[in-house]
Amino acid sequence: MKSWVIGNWKLNPATVSAVETLVDDLLAQTTSSQTDVAAQCQMMVAPSLLHLSPVQQKIKDTQIQLATQDVTALTAVSGAYTGDVSAAQLKDLGVQWSIIGHSERRQYYQEDNELLLQKLLHCASQGLGVILCVGESEAEFDAGDTEQVLVEQLAVVKTFLQQLLSQLNTEEVDNYISNQLIIAYEPVWAIGTGKVPSVDEVTAVHGFIRQQLQVFNAKLVQTPIIYGGSVKPDNAANFAASEQINGVLVGGAALQAQSFMEIAQAFAVK
Ligand code: PGA
Repeated sequence: MKSWVIGNWKLNPATVSAVETLVDDLLAQTTSSQTDVAAQCQMMVAPSLLHLSPVQQKIKDTQIQLATQDVTALTAVSGAYTGDVSAAQLKDLGVQWSIIGHSERRQYYQEDNELLLQKLLHCASQGLGVILCVGESEAEFDAGDTEQVLVEQLAVVKTFLQQLLSQLNTEEVDNYISNQLIIAYEPVWAIGTGKVPSVDEVTAVHGFIRQQLQVFNAKLVQTPIIYGGSVKPDNAANFAASEQINGVLVGGAALQAQSFMEIAQAFAVK
């Protein structure tokens, strides 16, 4: 299985010209690098909504995939929902994936499982893949509640699968969950802080997540589980060494082409 190296640019950078420079630098680095990094690991970038189109224009003929950071929960296609953007609109633009349930969305917009379920279903109905983010807060980590929190957050996957099965046939569901579902474990206390759990800790949590997923559907044993939270060029190789870590979701270090590529390189040799 190829590893996933996904850049979550959040609300960065501030201008179209800066975003174009970032993509140009990234493309220059992928073509000049000695190992064909873009072929050996699956790279993806998630620009802000406003920058999806210019980024799509630049990467459409490359191996780098494109994700949105969110979709509306209110409709899959179109309607009277001022300010929202739908999975169908994003798919039409050439977007392939959506990050769903990032901790910043959970924190600032109180996104819960009920709302996330709608987003997941809308993505699936439009053929957009999903990167579902889960992870405990620092207080939950300190209290030893990580597994409990993950069980609650992952419960949405079970409902999602049940509802998918009522909308699609088994083969379509199998196809979707085998190719278009990624779980990102991002301990909230590690995001943007420079604090990282040890590789052993992440490996154990990923094993736990995999165990939970398998209970929902045996096919989910294959689901890529990636790690996010202060991934940098100097710790990427450690994470890449674990069989349980199928890639990374990178925030800050994805905003420089060079550091993002160094992280991708660590996973390309995996
Ligand atoms: P970070 O962000 O790499 O800056 O910690 C990761 C994320 O929020 O996805």
